[in-house]
Amino acid sequence: MSAPQREEWNSVLGFILAAAGSAVGLGNIWRFPYIVGKNGGGNFVLLYLLIVFLLGLPVMYLELAAGRKTKRGPVGAIKALAPGSFWKFLGYLAVITGIAILSYYGVVAGWTIYYLFHSIFFGFESGNTSALFNKFTSNGLLQISLLFIFIGITTSVVFFGIKGGIEKISKVLMPLLLILMLGLIIYCFTLPNASKGLEYYFMPRFSEMNTNTFIFALGQAFFSLSLGMGAMMTYGSYLKKSEKLLNAGFVVIIFDTAIAIMAGLIIFPVIGGAPEKASAGLVFVVITDLFTKIPGGQLLAIFFFLLLSIAALTSTISLLEVAASYLIDEHKISRKKATVSIGFITFLVGIPSALSQGATSFFTKFIKIGDKHLSFLDSFDFAFGNISLALGALLLVLFVIFKWKFQNAKIEIFRNQEDKLWLSYILKPLVLFAVPAAICIVLGFIIFTGKTLS
Ligand code: PHE
Repeated sequence: MSAPQREEWNSVLGFILAAAGSAVGLGNIWRFPYIVGKNGGGNFVLLYLLIVFLLGLPVMYLELAAGRKTKRGPVGAIKALAPGSFWKFLGYLAVITGIAILSYYGVVAGWTIYYLFHSIFFGFESGNTSALFNKFTSNGLLQISLLFIFIGITTSVVFFGIKGGIEKISKVLMPLLLILMLGLIIYCFTLPNASKGLEYYFMPRFSEMNTNTFIFALGQAFFSLSLGMGAMMTYGSYLKKSEKLLNAGFVVIIFDTAIAIMAGLIIFPVIGGAPEKASAGLVFVVITDLFTKIPGGQLLAIFFFLLLSIAALTSTISLLEVAASYLIDEHKISRKKATVSIGFITFLVGIPSALSQGATSFFTKFIKIGDKHLSFLDSFDFAFGNISLALGALLLVLFVIFKWKFQNAKIEIFRNQEDKLWLSYILKPLVLFAVPAAICIVLGFIIFTGKTLS
């Protein structure tokens, strides 16, 4: 079978910026700080870093290698590496997970746009931000419209193709994001309680460490690095054979981790200690309230929400790209038709999530666990943003061990960098033992205790 002409990143920098754009998103700036706050600050950060480098890094390399080797997204890559085998369900799982994550991620991403405009035109009122958030999220029509707008923007970027769309936008947006964050960090460091916030953020308190810390750290690492659903495989498939995958992947991981840590460097000095309410509303309620109390707060809020929407967009682009490239590669559908139809399906799937933050009580109290209710959005995040990603990463590693073979993956990972082959002695035990064992333990724990839902 002759390989059809396939688009490629113009440069390794284009790849790095786009892949980092996928990785850096609401996961880093909205989710990471609030999960740090929920799991005891410094000890979570320490564990998170360990997991990123011991478990996230090997999975990142396997995804990039499988993508570049086959020049295909997840479905095509598995089919090419193991023709006719049952492993192809792994590819389908990736496509479904991508659409599912995008459907609710688009809702939260829509919030960032609303808050951006709100901070520009109205600003925020002290003591009123919680009421504002609740009023806003229970407006069903507004929620659906914002979802539509965000998915629409995402679709139009992917519509114009890998080079024209994603690469161009990432080249401009990612450095802008870095500059914005650095500016905010400098500003936040001057706040009166900054040092108390930093102490909470960096000082491990091991007594507060429990199994949940581990589970959240693992889930957060895959989510943040965009692993376990073929996003990195798809981006790797556009990477030239002549480029150095080992270096590029490492840079992406450093970039993503740095941005997450930087997000904490903004948020914890603002909070000035352990957050009182480390819930999903942290950014939207607590931070906006604090922005009303500090000098220059309105400008800071504008920067903050601009940054958050930019980060969300470069992530939603990659979520859509996985499903779209599946239709393009496997069903020979034109890029335009593929992106518009996946965008539309995602929008429809996202409607219940949009209505689950107060707009309808059915979707808001979708599942009952003990005396707690889980919204449709939270349930979807649990099923796809946690379980499905961990499962996807586990299955990929098992696929490499039993079918593709580590030996073959190794050749692709170290291509053009044979001088670094000695690193494979570290990588191999991680792929063969550490990653599958850790994910099996965590998934087993979640399945048998339902702990992450608490
Ligand atoms: N990594 C993205 C974030 O941190 C989310 C994402 C997950 C994107 C999975 C693609 C795939 O926000």
